[in-house]
Amino acid sequence: SHNRLLIKNGKVVNADGMADADLYIEEGVIKQLGRNLIIPGGTRTIDAAGLLLLPGGIDPHTHLDVEFMGTKSADDFYQGTKAAVAGGTTMIIDFVLPAKEESLIDAYYEWRRRADEKVCCDYGLHVAVTWWSSSVKKEMEELVEKHGVNSFKSFLAYKGSYQLSDTELYHVFNACKELGALPMVHAENGDIIAENTKKLLNAGITGPEGHEMSRPEEVEAEATNRACVIANQVGSPLYVVHVMSKSAGNVVAAKRDEKLSNGEECVIFGETLAASVGTHSHGTGYSCWSHAAAHVLSPPLRPDPTTPEYLMRLLANDGLQLTGSDNCTFTAEQKAVGKENFTKIPNGVNGVEDRMSVVWEKGVETGIIDPPRFVAITSTNAAKIFNIYPKKGVLAVGSDADIVLWNPRKTRTISAKTHHHKTDYNIFEGLTCHGVPDYVIVGGRVCVDEGELKAVQGLGNFVPTPTFSPTCYPAFKPEENGIDKNAIIHEEIAALRLNNTSSKP
Ligand code: URP
Ligand code: ZN
Ligand code: ZN
Ligand code: ZN
Repeated sequence: SHNRLLIKNGKVVNADGMADADLYIEEGVIKQLGRNLIIPGGTRTIDAAGLLLLPGGIDPHTHLDVEFMGTKSADDFYQGTKAAVAGGTTMIIDFVLPAKEESLIDAYYEWRRRADEKVCCDYGLHVAVTWWSSSVKKEMEELVEKHGVNSFKSFLAYKGSYQLSDTELYHVFNACKELGALPMVHAENGDIIAENTKKLLNAGITGPEGHEMSRPEEVEAEATNRACVIANQVGSPLYVVHVMSKSAGNVVAAKRDEKLSNGEECVIFGETLAASVGTHSHGTGYSCWSHAAAHVLSPPLRPDPTTPEYLMRLLANDGLQLTGSDNCTFTAEQKAVGKENFTKIPNGVNGVEDRMSVVWEKGVETGIIDPPRFVAITSTNAAKIFNIYPKKGVLAVGSDADIVLWNPRKTRTISAKTHHHKTDYNIFEGLTCHGVPDYVIVGGRVCVDEGELKAVQGLGNFVPTPTFSPTCYPAFKPEENGIDKNAIIHEEIAALRLNNTSSKP
């Protein structure tokens, strides 16, 4: 029967270590973990010898089916989550993006409507606060109390559409603090970008190279620092999305370190992207307009070629904690709207499918991180920060059966010819990655089976993210979420832990 499954002979990798263990699943939940399990007859068995069992990836940053920059992202919740599952991601957290003056609650319902029937895996929602008033604050409260939202993103960029002032940011962070929610920021100085853009266009610089030139590193670092200062003044934690530069990464790492060494509970979290560790800026040295335009996102990929490895090293030493994709895809035709003017190129790249492979290749395969840290930065930390751990983000008894059987010896070469996005190019085109998900199990169902994708539209559910209590991380005490904590065999896993988890598999 497809609701019972035994995975034998694999190596379980959690964020806190690795152990050889068999794993038994029933009704979408991990029921047993260990050796010599007693299993009912007629259970399907998968032999995972030579494979690593990872908690399914959690992508904390996607934009599926969203109206943005005058167009709509190409991957909807079906295509986007199908691509996610193909690559070993079993949960996404997408951003509700209300228009200015639009009710946040209406926008939230619209996202539920777009997603619920289509998702091939579980999903959660962040809500962007794109304007501010007392009614917005009331809506935030309702979203937190009734609708399972615990995170709100504000923009320091996109002047004229989503950008908030420092006063407004202060109020949003403060509301989050009062509600037990986590403020998130897109950190770039939108005022400076607007002025730089005018200058560049006046000087006749209209190509994709103008995008990065209008918003260099320090414009990101300044906004990152400012957001950290506002959060500190308010006394809220802060999550910085898509950290794209060495300078901004250093700000996050330093601010976080300062708070942790002061023993503060409201800390800073930093997310970087598969794109920023896995590909490069095209600067002025591109030969093909659409190739360069394909790489346009905000904040931009940096011309400094040492950036990807630097960001990976920050992920390794906990200067940064998570990797997202910021999957916000546009076809070449959609990108071409900006042919005469880089400011009209819709911002966004792919990544929800390839994030796991790219991070493995650039992190584990290079020896910068070990497999447990890979699990932390692709799954566990997102589950902890958004308060759905240990339901998600760990292979433990009682946790959801979202599992990837990862083959670290196989390779695949990323290509638009074989990807599952709706777009006609892939920013990682040609990159060969070790690490292939031979099987992906979504809520107990085998959705990649011996490499064959069998994603099921509508299989996923909305996962409410509960508020934080009493304060924030590291006191982010995961709430019970209906899981019997005594059933979790973390200690057993720890006891089985290999001496050297940093050796390559
Ligand atoms: O360029 C980007 N990142 N597009 C998606 C929207 C956002 O700002 O995250
Ligand atoms: Zn953003
Ligand atoms: Zn290229
Ligand atoms: Zn984004």
